[in-house]
This record gives sequence, C-alpha cells and structure tokens, in this order.
Amino acid sequence: MKVAVIGANGQLGSDVYRAFQDNGDEAVALNHDAFEVSDLEAVDSVMHDVMPDLVVNTSAMHNVEACEEDPSKSFAVNGIGARNLAQVSNGVGFTLMHISTDYVFDGAKQAPYVEADFPIPLNVYGNTKLSGELFVRTIANKYFVLRVSGLYGMNLCRAKGGHNFVTLMLKLAKERDEVRVVDDEILTPTYTEDIAHQIVHLTQCTDYGLYHVTAQESCSWYEFAGKIFEFTNASIHLSKADPGEFPAKVPRPKYSVLENKALHSVGLDIMPHWSIGLQRYLEVIKGEAW
Ligand SMILES: NC(=O)c1ccc[n+]([C@@H]2O[C@H](COP(=O)([O-])OP(=O)(O)OC[C@H]3O[C@@H](n4cnc5c(N)ncnc54)[C@H](OP(=O)(O)O)[C@@H]3O)[C@@H](O)[C@H]2O)c1
Repeated sequence: MKVAVIGANGQLGSDVYRAFQDNGDEAVALNHDAFEVSDLEAVDSVMHDVMPDLVVNTSAMHNVEACEEDPSKSFAVNGIGARNLAQVSNGVGFTLMHISTDYVFDGAKQAPYVEADFPIPLNVYGNTKLSGELFVRTIANKYFVLRVSGLYGMNLCRAKGGHNFVTLMLKLAKERDEVRVVDDEILTPTYTEDIAHQIVHLTQCTDYGLYHVTAQESCSWYEFAGKIFEFTNASIHLSKADPGEFPAKVPRPKYSVLENKALHSVGLDIMPHWSIGLQRYLEVIKGEAW
C-alpha cells in the first residue's frame, strides 16, 4: 500500500511514517515544504502526483494560544485544510485518516468520552479541529477520524518546540529539588509510537468512521509526573500545585479522557495502559534525557 504522511517530520507523523515503513508499505513523507494544506490547488496537484492509497493527515495549527490570537488562520489550517483533503480524496480515490483531538470536549462529563458524545469545544483550537472533523465526515467517501490526546514522542512537537511534558519533568529533576504540578486536569498521556502502531493495525479494516485512540485509563498531570520520577528513580520532591497557581491564558477542558469504544467494538484496540507506554518511552530516551 502507498501511504502519504502529512507532517512526517512532526511528533506523531514521524512515528506513523516509520510504522508504515516497518510494515512493508511504501511511505511517502509530505512535510510542510511539500504543500500548504489550506491551499486546495496545491493539495490536489501533489496528491495527483503521488497517487496514494491512504493519506494520514497529522498537520494542524495546534498551539492553543496562537489559535486564539489568529482564528482565521486556525480555521484555514484545521478546518479548510481538512476539507481540501476530503474533497481531493474522492477525486484521487484514497482513504483519508485525519487526526483530531480530545479538545473538542469541554470536560463537564467527568467520565470517559465516547465517540457518540456531543462535542462542545472551549476554545478556537477545539472549534476549528471540530470543523475539520465534520468536513471530513461529510465529504470524504472513505475516512477515519482519530481523536488523540496528550501526545509525547521521540520527535518533539514542532508547534510547541522545546520539551514535551516527560522531558521537561526530567530536566527539572536534574535542576531542582522540588516541582509543583497540577492535580485537577485529568487526561490520558499517550506515546505517539503506540498510536502509530494502532493506526497501521486499524487500516486492516474498512469500518470507516470516528475513533478515539488513546492509551488506556487516565491520570492527572501530577500523577503522570509521579510515575515519570518513579520509573527514573529521580530524587526530586513532587507536590500538588494549588488551584489557580498556574492560570491558563486560554480555557481548556479540565477532564478530557477518551474511551476507545469504537476501536473496541471492531475488535482492534491494541492501545496499552498509559504507564506501559511511558515505560517504553523512558527506555528509548534513557541516557539522553535521564
Ligand atoms: N500534541 C498533542 O499533545 C496533541 C493532542 C491532541 C491532538 N493532537 C493532534 O495531533 C496531530 C499531530 O500533532 P503533533 O504534536 O505531531 O504536531 P507537530 O509535531 O507540530 O507536527 C505537525 C506537522 O504538520 C505540519 N504542518 C503544520 N501546519 C501545516 C500546514 N498548514 N500545511 C502543511 N503542513 C503543516 C508541521 O510542519 P511545520 O512544523 O514545518 O509547520 C509538522 O510537520 C495534530 O493534528 C494535533 O491537532 C496533538
């Protein structure tokens, strides 16, 4: 199968690219210099050149603060970009696998969200990602929309740069005696390599639709930091931040746990517990980050 990965040098895209290569597929990297996803003509031209069977779209404008400051650009990339791919997918005949987010929910449910739950985004990023989902679902003939959450991987997130949460905690453990972390935001941190393997596995089926794809179970950022320090034997003192100690500039869901209900129902859920993914990731970065 010929698979084009949009954003193949990104945090998730790099693992997806590698996973398809390891699976024996022909993987084609389409980085930002190949085209601008919000430009329909460019998308159409590149896809007619490549003629893929499957396109995995990991591109997004996903710096939450930047999206809030420039809603038009955010909609152009996250909404119109997805629409362009959906439209072109029908002409070229490829299956579109589009990556979305847990931030389509407001967190009020306080129990794991399933695919049938009604999304109510709290910010521009969530709204524009939701519009992208809807364009794909209403236009593309063959599509998977995958909502993922709390990513960390070998390639750092290009939009956020610097560190992911794991490498940041490891850095702080080297520099400080104490760190304070919020305990009132609950999510499922997920290793990008696990999502990449799940994506390859899911392409066995043609049960197109909307899927939640996160590691199993959930934790707060405080609990996640605790596991990072436990697994690396870090001797830093971890304490819970007071409510409001780290005020967010843009509203975000306090609870964004997703249940992989659709994956489970097609019998293809191979996502591990979040702590297993973390353990594997820490083994991979051992010697470099700790
Ligand atoms: N990071 C998270 O914790 C998280 C959580 C939930 C959902 N997600 C979703 O997961 C997906 C992947 O995230 P990630 O962390 O892997 O992101 P990333 O590391 O920033 O990678 C995104 C890739 O897309 C490219 N790109 C950005 N804008 C583009 C555009 N307008 N046209 C073409 N290419 C463009 C980027 O290239 P340049 O860097 O060169 O622009 C980069 O290669 C996104 O859809 C995001 O919404 C992420």
